[in-house]
Amino acid sequence: MSSNEESRFSFFSKKKTPVIDESNLKIPTHIAVIMDGNGRWAKKRMLPRSAGHRAGADNLKTLCKNCGHYGIKYVTVYAFSTENWSRPESEVHTLMELFVEYFDRYDPELEQEGIRVRFTGDIAGLPENIQAVCKRAEEGSKHRNRMTLIVAFNYGGRREIVQSCQKLAMQVKEGKIDASEITEEMFAQNLYLPDVPDPDLIIRPSGEERTSNFLVWEGAYSELWFSDVLWPDFGMKELTEALVAYTKRDRRFGGLSKEK
Ligand code: IPE
Ligand code: IPE
Ligand code: MG
Repeated sequence: MSSNEESRFSFFSKKKTPVIDESNLKIPTHIAVIMDGNGRWAKKRMLPRSAGHRAGADNLKTLCKNCGHYGIKYVTVYAFSTENWSRPESEVHTLMELFVEYFDRYDPELEQEGIRVRFTGDIAGLPENIQAVCKRAEEGSKHRNRMTLIVAFNYGGRREIVQSCQKLAMQVKEGKIDASEITEEMFAQNLYLPDVPDPDLIIRPSGEERTSNFLVWEGAYSELWFSDVLWPDFGMKELTEALVAYTKRDRRFGGLSKEK
C-alpha cells in the first residue's frame, strides 16, 4: 500500500495490531451475523460438538459488547435454521437446552447493557418451553433501548417469505385487499419484524461463503463480509476488520456512485 493510500485510510497500519481511527469508520445501523463454525472449533480441540456450541453461545456476549462499543443499534444473529432440524436429535436437543440456559444466565448482563432482545423465525413451530423463553425475554427487555439483539431461531428466509405470502393471501381471501394491489412494501410489512431496518452488513465467519437461507428478503442489498475465523473465535479484531471493509464499500442500490 502506498503512503498516500495509507493516509487516506488512516485505520490501516503495517504494524501487527492495526491502529484504528474509529472516527473514520462508517457504522452500520444493523449488522447480521451467521454464527457458524462451532463444530469445527470443537473438532480442532478434540472436543464434542456440544462444547463448540457452548463456546459459540458464550461468544455472543462478546459480540454484543463489541457492537455496543461501536454504537451499532441492531444485531441479528443466526442461531438455528429451519434446516438445522436435520441434525442428529441429540445435537438439536443440546442447541435447544443452550438456548434456554443462555437467556436465564445472561439476562442480568443484557439488562445492564441496555440490550433489548427480540426473536425472528417460525417461533410458533418451536417446543412450548422455548416459546415461553422467547416471550419472557422479549417482554422483560422491551424497555431497553441501547441496542436490539435479534435472535434468528428456527429461522429460514424462504419460510419467512412463504408465511408473508400466506398472510397476504388470507387478506385477499377476506376481501381486504386485491391481489393486483400487493406491493413490495406490503409484502415487507408481513415479514417477521417489519419495523426493523434491513441489515446493512451480513457477516459470515467459518470460511463458508454462502448465506444459508438467512434474511433472503431483507438482505437483498446488504453488504457481505466473510472470514475464515470460526465463530467462537470471532472477536473485536474481526468485527473491526468487517467495519473497515464496510466503510470502503460503495452502496449504490442500483443507482450511481455519489462521486460520479
Ligand atoms: C453453527 O455451527 C451452529 C449452528 C448451525 C446451530 P455448526 O454446528 O454449523 O459448526 P460447523 O459448521 O459444523 O463447524
Ligand atoms: C447456518 O449454518 C445456520 C446457523 C449458523 C444457525 P449451517 O452450518 O447450518 O449452514 P450450512 O449447512 O453450512 O449451509
Ligand atoms: Mg455450520
